Amino acid sequence: MLIRKAPDIRPSEITPERVFRDRRRLLKAAGFIGASALLAEARAADTIPANHRRLANVKKVPAPAGLTPNTFEEVTGYNNFYEFGTDKSDPAANSGKFRPKPWKVAIEGEAEVTGSFDFDALVSPHQLEERIYRFRCVEAWSMVIPWVGIPLGDVLKRFKPSSKAKYVAFETVMRPEEMPGQRYPILDWPYVEGLTIAEAMHPLTLLVTGVYGVELPAQNGAPLRLMVPWKYGFKSIKSIVRIRFTEQQPPTSWNLAAPDEYGFYANVNPKVDHPRWSQASERVVSSGLGSLLASRVPTQPFNGYAAQVASLYTGLDLARNF
Ligand code: MTE
Repeated sequence: MLIRKAPDIRPSEITPERVFRDRRRLLKAAGFIGASALLAEARAADTIPANHRRLANVKKVPAPAGLTPNTFEEVTGYNNFYEFGTDKSDPAANSGKFRPKPWKVAIEGEAEVTGSFDFDALVSPHQLEERIYRFRCVEAWSMVIPWVGIPLGDVLKRFKPSSKAKYVAFETVMRPEEMPGQRYPILDWPYVEGLTIAEAMHPLTLLVTGVYGVELPAQNGAPLRLMVPWKYGFKSIKSIVRIRFTEQQPPTSWNLAAPDEYGFYANVNPKVDHPRWSQASERVVSSGLGSLLASRVPTQPFNGYAAQVASLYTGLDLARNF
C-alpha cells in the first residue's frame, strides 16, 4: 500500500478514473455471456452476506420519491476511510483486524453531563430509524444509502449542553495496530471533525450505527459515525470515540491538511468549485451493469436538502465560508 501525505495526492488519484472493480470483471465477462446473465449477476450483488448482524426494531422512514439506493456491495466496497488506506477498495480489504466492540465514547466540554459512555448506554435508549439519504463526496461522486441511526441531537440533548456550547467536535479512534493507514502520515491522526451546535441538533443529522438494516461494517465507520447529508462526505466522521462541546470552532482534519481546498462548513454547493475540479455535477457510483451506463447528474445546492437546511446559513457568505 503506497501512502503519501494528502496534498501530494493527485486529483486523478483522489477521484480515480479507474472504474470500480466490478465493472472490469463484468466488461471481461461481457464478451462471453449475454446481457441477461450480466443483469442477474448485478442483481446478485444486492444480497447481504449472512455474517452481517441484523439490527432489531428499526423504524423505516419512507424515502423521498426518486431515491433508489445503491447496492450493499457498492456501499461497502467503494469507501473513503484513510485509516485503512487511500484506495476505494482499501477500507474493505484492510479492516479485518478492526474490533468495534467493546466501544466507549468520551463526552466532554461545555455540558452538564460528561464522562465515558458505553456504546449501548448511548444508543439503546433511542429508537433506531432507517433513512435513505443522498450522499455526496467532495470528490464529485455520489450514492444513495439506507443508513440506520438516531438523530444526533436526540443523543446530544441528554448531556445538557450549556449556552457556551457553540460547536461540537468529534474524534475518530486512534489504533494504528488495527488501522494500518494510521502508521503513515497521510493526515494528522486522529481524524477530527466539527459542526456548529445548530447543525449537530438539526433533525437530518444522524448518528449512524448501521446500514441496509445490519450493523455498520468496519469500512463504513463501525460502530458509530456521523451522516450529515447536506455536506460533503468528509464531514461524516467515522468510528467516533470523542464528542466535545466547545465555545470555539474546532479544527477539522481536511481543513488542517489543505485549508484552501476544504473549509469548515463544506456544504454541498454546485456554485463553489473545488480549486482543482468542478462541483457542478457528480458521477453516480454504480457497479455491475449500471457502471456501463454510469451517469453524471447536476449537483444540487445543499445536496438536495436546501428546503430543510438553507435557513441555518442565513446571512452567511457561502462562497467565503465554503
Ligand atoms: N472518517 C474518518 N475517520 N476517516 C476518513 O478517511 N473519510 C470521509 C468520511 N469520514 C473519512 C471519514 C470521506 S472523504 C467520505 S466521502 C466518507 O467518510 C465516506 O463514507 P463511506 O465510505 O461510508 O461512503
